[in-house]
Amino acid sequence: MGCGSSFEASDGPRTVVVFGSTGYLGGAVATRLLQEPFLYKVRCVTRRSSSDKARKLAEHGAVIVNADLGEPKSLQKALDGADVMFLTTHYWEEKNKEKEVIKGLNAIDAAIQCGVKHIILNGSENIKKVIGKDCSNLDSKAAIEEYLREVGVNYTIIRLPFWYENFCNVFKPHKLKHGVYAIALPLEDAEVDAISVEDVGECVSSILRRPRQYYGKTLSLAADRLSMDKILTVFNKHFNNRKFVDPKIRLKDYEKFQFVGAKDITAMFEFYQTVIIPRDIKLTKRLNPSLLTFDKWMSENKEEIEDALKES
Ligand SMILES: NC(=O)c1ccc[n+]([C@@H]2O[C@H](COP(=O)([O-])OP(=O)(O)OC[C@H]3O[C@@H](n4cnc5c(N)ncnc54)[C@H](OP(=O)(O)O)[C@@H]3O)[C@@H](O)[C@H]2O)c1
Repeated sequence: MGCGSSFEASDGPRTVVVFGSTGYLGGAVATRLLQEPFLYKVRCVTRRSSSDKARKLAEHGAVIVNADLGEPKSLQKALDGADVMFLTTHYWEEKNKEKEVIKGLNAIDAAIQCGVKHIILNGSENIKKVIGKDCSNLDSKAAIEEYLREVGVNYTIIRLPFWYENFCNVFKPHKLKHGVYAIALPLEDAEVDAISVEDVGECVSSILRRPRQYYGKTLSLAADRLSMDKILTVFNKHFNNRKFVDPKIRLKDYEKFQFVGAKDITAMFEFYQTVIIPRDIKLTKRLNPSLLTFDKWMSENKEEIEDALKES
């Protein structure tokens, strides 16, 4: 295969190990790659191979492998003979930056030992370096990026913005009174880049089609830019029997919220508010021509939002 040329089925399927495959991001990547069995053999990593999500992936052709990012020996088994690793690590389960970094480094070391030829990493900007405040859930990913750049393996880093899907879970609207919901994002007058995590699957598939074109690159992906006004307009348009309002939460209010991680999320929004991140919507569209705007995503995901509203 020459530089810039694409992979075809005649090159034989490549084995891609997908971390986080039972979650949103890894799930989107694994599900997309499983659609092309002539191009990819997909190994889905989980700590719970008997879970419903793992079984569903297996039904679609995935090989399910039991491994834990905290246990290097298990990673060797998962990565043995693989060509590509898609790596996403996780902060919120343990809420410990150092542990997340170690897990990311474990996977990279194991991939190198196993001769993996290309690592695609879900990375991040280093928020602490830019605004001087800890944002453990993203600074951890920035540290893993730094390591990956130094170890001498072919890599592609993707940096993702705010996910639309957050409105179905962590940032779902809160019921104020019958038919009225608040969307509590500390965005103030700023805008935030966003994407549907589902659409990242196609982006990764495009990277894998022409991998050499993306070796050594850091791709800042986005599909849309959202202000509070735009978010409210889209919600009110699609759920016109309810009213969605902006409670005008400021960073200094959010920081005082009593959940673990409130300070990290506040720093993340301070970063969104104060730093213009060069995210590349044009490039993202090239990688995924069916990329959804927030409006289109909402029209296709009303049931999920309805479920979230019922629980709020
Ligand atoms: N940009 C945004 O708006 C945004 C929003 C949400 C999340 N994120 C970030 O994106 C990443 C992926 O989040 P997600 O929502 O897709 O995750 P998720 O749905 O919470 O799923 C977590 C996944 O990680 C796996 N996992 C966790 N610990 C593991 C370990 N020690 N070893 C192996 N696998 C492990 C889980 O596998 P098993 O449980 O099956 O073992 C599961 O597949 C996270 O880093 C998260 O912080 C970003």
